[in-house]
Amino acid sequence: MAAQHSSRYKYVITFLSIAVLTFLLFMMNHFDKIGFIEIQCPSQLLQSQTEADMIVLLWTRPFGNRFPLNRCPKPFNAPRCFFTDDRTWYPRANAVIIHHRDVCNSKNQMPQIPRPEGQYWVWFNLESPSHAPNLGMMDNLINLTMSYRSDSDICTPYGWLQKKEILQNFTIPGKSKLVAWVVSNWNPSSKRVKFYNELKDHIKVDVYGQQHKSLAMKDLKDVISKYKFYLSFENSIHTDYITEKLWRNALMSGTVPVVLGPPRETYERFIPSDSFIHVDDFPSAKDLADYLLELDQDPQKYERYFKWRSRLQSVGGPFI
Ligand SMILES: *[C@@H]1O[C@H](CO)[C@@H](O)[C@H](O)[C@H]1NC(C)=O
Ligand SMILES: *[C@@H]1O[C@H](CO)[C@@H](O)[C@H](O)[C@H]1NC(C)=O
Repeated sequence: MAAQHSSRYKYVITFLSIAVLTFLLFMMNHFDKIGFIEIQCPSQLLQSQTEADMIVLLWTRPFGNRFPLNRCPKPFNAPRCFFTDDRTWYPRANAVIIHHRDVCNSKNQMPQIPRPEGQYWVWFNLESPSHAPNLGMMDNLINLTMSYRSDSDICTPYGWLQKKEILQNFTIPGKSKLVAWVVSNWNPSSKRVKFYNELKDHIKVDVYGQQHKSLAMKDLKDVISKYKFYLSFENSIHTDYITEKLWRNALMSGTVPVVLGPPRETYERFIPSDSFIHVDDFPSAKDLADYLLELDQDPQKYERYFKWRSRLQSVGGPFI
């Protein structure tokens, strides 16, 4: 009995992981451009649930995103899944994806119990616990978790690395500036602002964001790529909480991230050890500043932070 249950469980996780992967590709809106997955589209268009093996209901549109739901690519010979945001499907849905931010203000926003037998509720969250209120509301309701944490049932990180098909030396974008930081949520008591306040006495940091120099999203990559270093400082420190501040702002802009967040060992589970500088590697902000200034004067040493890019490439997830 127990074994049966666990193989059934494994089956569902596999099933759902693939479904969710598909879902994430939907959200990226350009999934046919993604190379790492073989997508047979549009021959596998599912026009209705009648052909589907699994019905997945999005309880809300995460972040209000209006990505199309009427296409269901079929990677890896996956079961066919029918995605919908129409709640009249609730009684028949095999899984319901519940985006925490959209429901956490009130229990009334959750699907109502009793739930249909065999239905999985998937808790979806991309915020750190510091910005995910009312977590207790989910107690004893959720079957599967889906978040940036690697111990989620379905892991949906902010970005990841992809092997390059052929080894190819990376061309470092031209550098004319030293250190940049983009920050919107300026909280003077946060670890990152305190650290910055010490750092700026020892090295020049150009700060962009709401209360600083303005920087339009469309210019972000171009502007940041001209800097040798980027401060990928997370707003709060939590297990595996590594966001677009690393993936988009630093790695995808072709600069070297200086990270403040979970410990170095955590970052090393996601990216190579020689791809970033961790603030914890230094006893003080001044020591970090001295090291950055040293790298600035030593192109060979600086370029070592790009070596990994000849075999790997960073990819942003759907929300960045
Ligand atoms: C999902 O979790 C709820 C609450 O713990 C439980 O009652 C239900 O049986 C679970 N559903 C499945 C399909 O395991
Ligand atoms: C990459 O650069 C290294 C050293 O700069 C060189 O030895 C190597 O041949 C280059 N590889 C390719 C694929 O261009």
